[in-house]
Amino acid sequence: MSTVSPVSSVTATTARKKVTVASFRRKKEQGEPITMLTGYDYPTALALDQAGIDSILVGDSLGMVVLGYENTIPVTMEEVLHHCRAASRGAKTAFLIGDMPFMSYQASVEEAVRNAGRLLKEGGAEAVKLEGGRERVETVRAIVGAGIPVMGHLGLTPQSIHAQGGYRTQGRTATAAKCLLEDALLLEEAGCFSIVLESVPGKLAEFISKRLTIPTIGIGAGNGCDGQVLVVHDILGLFDRFTPKFVKKYADLHTGMTRAFEEYIADVTARRFPDTDHTVEMPEEEWECFEQSLKNGD
Ligand code: KIV
Repeated sequence: MSTVSPVSSVTATTARKKVTVASFRRKKEQGEPITMLTGYDYPTALALDQAGIDSILVGDSLGMVVLGYENTIPVTMEEVLHHCRAASRGAKTAFLIGDMPFMSYQASVEEAVRNAGRLLKEGGAEAVKLEGGRERVETVRAIVGAGIPVMGHLGLTPQSIHAQGGYRTQGRTATAAKCLLEDALLLEEAGCFSIVLESVPGKLAEFISKRLTIPTIGIGAGNGCDGQVLVVHDILGLFDRFTPKFVKKYADLHTGMTRAFEEYIADVTARRFPDTDHTVEMPEEEWECFEQSLKNGD
């Protein structure tokens, strides 16, 4: 394990104040974009935090990009909790949001409140996110009533991929756009502190953002939202299956990682690793003593 410490970013973290729901509100009021990425483990959360991200989402996308599931449907509370705990140890100042997995909030309001509470109590999250509009108003109200900040999620909602007929842009007709706007207003009224708008036409996302007093966080929803979120494995080029059109890749770590693994395998195979720089030896006199004691039969 390397002991090299990060240079520029440490200062950024120590100087930075804790991000809260109030920071979300203030940023919207001041027209400052809110930055958010997903993060599912300690080293990634730490790097995100040190880079100065506002918020880290332990998204149920972890099911696809970390656990290799086909979609987010199989993700369980235990899996989100496990990753939330790890990310919470790295998220020192960033606001940590835990995603409520499929069927952790749909069956009953009481179960939803209990599971949202677990994400805070056992996962170290500071808020929860759940998908859906008007059908979730009562649930949102109850979770907020328990003192838990809730982020809504409208547009393409991956937990409903079978109902939505796949990963499709939402709100493209006048009727669908009106429905989305109404849902957003209802979620705001129910107490959400922010709403993710996923795969929504840019013009509509901007319109909704202007109509709401709470900030919107866009993903594939253009530049008119109050903030942006992407899946960290997508921007790092770590997810090999597909890259959505709206993703900007900032690195190609899958290729970099494969290259590093190939070099390691070649080094070990050729006995180039470990070399003397990576090997600990005992003092020569101790070695001689060791050999002597074996000879003496001690
Ligand atoms: O699960 C997730 O990562 C998400 C974001 C893409 C918004 O819901």
